[in-house]
Amino acid sequence: MEAIVAEKLVKRFETKIRKGLFRSEKKVVEALRGVSFTIRRGEIFGLLGPNGAGKTTTIKILSTLLLPDSGDAYVNGYHVVREARKVREQLGVMLYIEKGLYRRLTGRENLEYYAALQHIPPSDAKRRVERLLELVEMTEHADKLVDEYSLGMKARISFARALITDAPILFLDEPTLGLDPASARKIRDVIRELSRREGKTILLTTHNMWEADALADRIAIIDQGRILTIGSPMELKAAVSKGDVLQIEVMGAYNGVIKKIGSIGGVRYVKLDSEEPAAQRAVVRVGLDGSARDHLPTIVDVLARGGARVRNISVLAPSLEDVFIELTSRRGR
Ligand SMILES: Nc1ncnc2c1ncn2[C@@H]1O[C@H](COP(=O)(O)OP(=O)(O)OP(=O)(O)O)[C@@H](O)[C@H]1O
Ligand SMILES: [Mg+2]
Repeated sequence: MEAIVAEKLVKRFETKIRKGLFRSEKKVVEALRGVSFTIRRGEIFGLLGPNGAGKTTTIKILSTLLLPDSGDAYVNGYHVVREARKVREQLGVMLYIEKGLYRRLTGRENLEYYAALQHIPPSDAKRRVERLLELVEMTEHADKLVDEYSLGMKARISFARALITDAPILFLDEPTLGLDPASARKIRDVIRELSRREGKTILLTTHNMWEADALADRIAIIDQGRILTIGSPMELKAAVSKGDVLQIEVMGAYNGVIKKIGSIGGVRYVKLDSEEPAAQRAVVRVGLDGSARDHLPTIVDVLARGGARVRNISVLAPSLEDVFIELTSRRGR
């Protein structure tokens, strides 16, 4: 049996848009437009997509916090609407980092209190809390008020909280959002460890393509409420690696020429990676059909005629970002 099955989930939100002081208009937002995927037992599954894609909505439906308008979903075989209580028993959930933490309690008290709410016997709870504090490296700060914690410390306690019931399935919504590199790495390490050593099934959302690539066994790319593709990071990258990806650093009048590069035959897309308009400097990413060698002379020529100078060119291995650009540009954005 699969750990998670989502079948054609649809969710609409009705929102009011203010039009002046006394008038507002109703607008329907289609947060999910038929989202389907399955997650295998023991897998780390990444739901990757930009802001507003529908990641949190998906996690909320799967954790019974929201009802879908249509479609079905199962967690360890239990239906998220008809067997909501059973579903919740399978899950440890971390929604946004500070959600569910009491600021006037210490980190340790938060975990002990939550354990009591989950009916874990006090003696077991004590041991478990100590182990989790160690796991997330918070023993030293365990007796400070959460109010005095940094974001990274709150994240670690929230994460530990999701692990209290030792549930077989974990949902982590943007677990490293806003954390410094060291804290983010710590969280990622623990996620890997939970998967490897304890065989947990983990669904995590992120908009960080690098993180999804580094952590997930399989990834679903979601955008505007639709799943665009599902596969292992390698499979996804192989699907776009028919051609090279160039990263070109240009100086001078680069504005007009970027569009022109896009219309060269064999160029699949052009994207501005970064720019410093004041310094007249930009880094452009160019996806090609074939090899860099075949297309480079034309590209350099177009740049030069447009008044831009090439400072550096590198040929990149396709990243998940290229997969994403490819998928979204194919839809004619
Ligand atoms: N309670 C709500 N009321 C109205 N619209 C909502 C509500 N919750 C979400 N939405 C809308 O649904 C869409 C999907 O939102 P969702 O929070 O699932 O995106 P997300 O992928 O988690 O984005 P982010 O990366 O910003 O967290 C967005 O357009 C959002 O504005
Ligand atoms: Mg979200």
